[in-house]
Amino acid sequence: MPLLPILRYPDPRLKTPATAITEIDDELRRLALDMAETMYGAPGIGLAATQVNVHKRLIVADASETRDRLLILVNPELIQSEGSRVGEEGCLSVPGVYDKIERAERVVVGYLDLDGNRQTVEAEGMLSVCLQHEMEHLDGKIFVEHLSPLKQKRIRAKLLKQARVTA
Ligand code: NI
Repeated sequence: MPLLPILRYPDPRLKTPATAITEIDDELRRLALDMAETMYGAPGIGLAATQVNVHKRLIVADASETRDRLLILVNPELIQSEGSRVGEEGCLSVPGVYDKIERAERVVVGYLDLDGNRQTVEAEGMLSVCLQHEMEHLDGKIFVEHLSPLKQKRIRAKLLKQARVTA
């Protein structure tokens, strides 16, 4: 299975809102597994289809230390959120940038698994943050948009410079 290329901020395609998945077929299962492999290979703890330029509501995540608790979420939806926490976040689409972001502490997320069965996951800590972060990608939002306009401007400039150097 190939590793998929990951779009980098400020690529405007990252702003595309993803559409709901209406059919879970082999092509989608294949995409999910390729995304999982890409996430593990990066390495990262989550990846949204938006980041690999597929604008469908699909995310993969594994925030376990053992890296063996893969979650594949089709059409994820926030059902409940509680509390707040501030923690450092990064993103595979914004390499080398980490900053403190406020998120809900605990979330319950509903989704379909790859067999089309309705599931829910209750998450706290890193997995909770990861799911919130990845669901934002599906709405075309990147974590740096929580930061001040000045910080965003600096991050943009830094990544555009990196892109020129590596091009
Ligand atoms: Ni991200």
